[in-house]
Amino acid sequence: MSTIDKINQLKKERNAVILAHYYAEDEVQAIADYVGDSFYLSKVATEIEAETILFCGVSFMGESAKILNPDKTVIMPDRKADCPMAHMADIEKINEMREKYEDLAVVCYINSTALLKTYSDVCVTSSNALKIVKALPNRHIYFIPDENLGRYVASQVPDKEFIFNDGYCHVHKNMMVEHVKKVKEAHPQAEILVHPECTMDVIQQADYVGSTSGIIDYATASSAEEFIVCTETGVFHELKKKNPGKHFYSVVQDQLCPDMKLITLEKAAEALEHMENVVELEEEIRLRAKRPLERMLELG
Ligand code: 13P
Ligand code: SF4
Repeated sequence: MSTIDKINQLKKERNAVILAHYYAEDEVQAIADYVGDSFYLSKVATEIEAETILFCGVSFMGESAKILNPDKTVIMPDRKADCPMAHMADIEKINEMREKYEDLAVVCYINSTALLKTYSDVCVTSSNALKIVKALPNRHIYFIPDENLGRYVASQVPDKEFIFNDGYCHVHKNMMVEHVKKVKEAHPQAEILVHPECTMDVIQQADYVGSTSGIIDYATASSAEEFIVCTETGVFHELKKKNPGKHFYSVVQDQLCPDMKLITLEKAAEALEHMENVVELEEEIRLRAKRPLERMLELG
């Protein structure tokens, strides 16, 4: 029996659905019931009726699904698949900022550990951060953990004061402005599509800035035929599927998230077969982390 047939059979036996992020390998996206960006997947996770969720993504994604769905069993193909940026903020510094600014909102990118979420007022993703920050009554915003997304949001919301944290995504930080300019020279008609985890100098080159879903929707609606894509190349799967006649260029050779690439069909089948890599959280942490995530779902 092929691995795909095995997964489909196990899905029925376990009453499971498969969620996959756009950065997962093509064949993993192909077997998923739902594929999307972080916001879409966290919303979908709250609407699922199946007993088991197999989350083909990194740790914080599985954790968010579990936080929002305590009665479901959430499993991951590989527990080692973890977003390094999710750990790049400091609880002591959060407490320090809360003491310093009376009206502070701690805005936490969903790419964060459950523990960091418990110290936050609201979560955001790259697709709703602008909308949510604008809707907050607070003037001072401490944006964790991603400095680049924080700086991009701040550039669009000039009436608020931001305090930045020095977290970053190593994959997006590697796509530098000189790389983008070089590809643009080779393809002058191409539109530049940028994920806001890129640095501001790259963002300033963009024709469009947005989440992975936003990038896919923009390219699909655009009359342009060529695009320079400044995000992980897993999005090429959906971009090419929706736009068979258009051309998509990466900016660096290894535009890959090594953690997302740990997820394979074989590991997905193994996890379902043995019901392993179950996401578990202390109930107190889960409840405290749920508040900022639910606030995101309300405001986003
Ligand atoms: P999205 O919000 O576009 O899904 O991005 C998630 C992510 O991890 C980007 O590196
Ligand atoms: Fe984390 Fe970057 Fe990978 Fe996204 S691409 S999961 S931010 S390391």
